[in-house]
Amino acid sequence: MSILKTSKLGNPVLRQIAKEVPLAELKSPSIQKLIDDMVETMHEYDGVGLAAPQVHESKQIAVLEVHNSKRYPWAPNVPLLILVNPVFLSKSDETIEGWEGCLSVEGFRGKATRSKKVTVRFLDRKGREQRVEAEGFPAVVIQHELDHLAGKVFLDRMRDLSTLTHLKEYERFWMKPQDEE
Ligand code: NI
Repeated sequence: MSILKTSKLGNPVLRQIAKEVPLAELKSPSIQKLIDDMVETMHEYDGVGLAAPQVHESKQIAVLEVHNSKRYPWAPNVPLLILVNPVFLSKSDETIEGWEGCLSVEGFRGKATRSKKVTVRFLDRKGREQRVEAEGFPAVVIQHELDHLAGKVFLDRMRDLSTLTHLKEYERFWMKPQDEE
């Protein structure tokens, strides 16, 4: 496995709609390795999620996992989830606003608005169709990662840019668990 180089805001790959992964391609060693490398890269940078465009691959693949997160210390743990060709089946009208950051928007946090609950249909890494329902922080992470597959970043989900905050100032003024949700 290897740690992959991450793409940063301004790289056109982050603004493209990622391509669907055909079933035969999903089973190929190169895609299986990409998935392993994405998981390792996410762990290396203490991320809670990573989408393929963030490692310069315009493909509909996202990984997420929350395990005693250093970047989001108050976040509940979420077991490793690998989403291939994910599609929203539902998104609640009820929204929540919480602080988000992104490995592609390094050094910043901002408050983004998201649906509180989502249901997603996807293929797992073996190509089996699966569904996941999520609420609260895991739902936010799923929406953040699926946005990457649609060429969007969390800045697009901010009501305005007034909460855009350097990470240092975030830690100094805003890092309180009750600010989440
Ligand atoms: Ni991101």
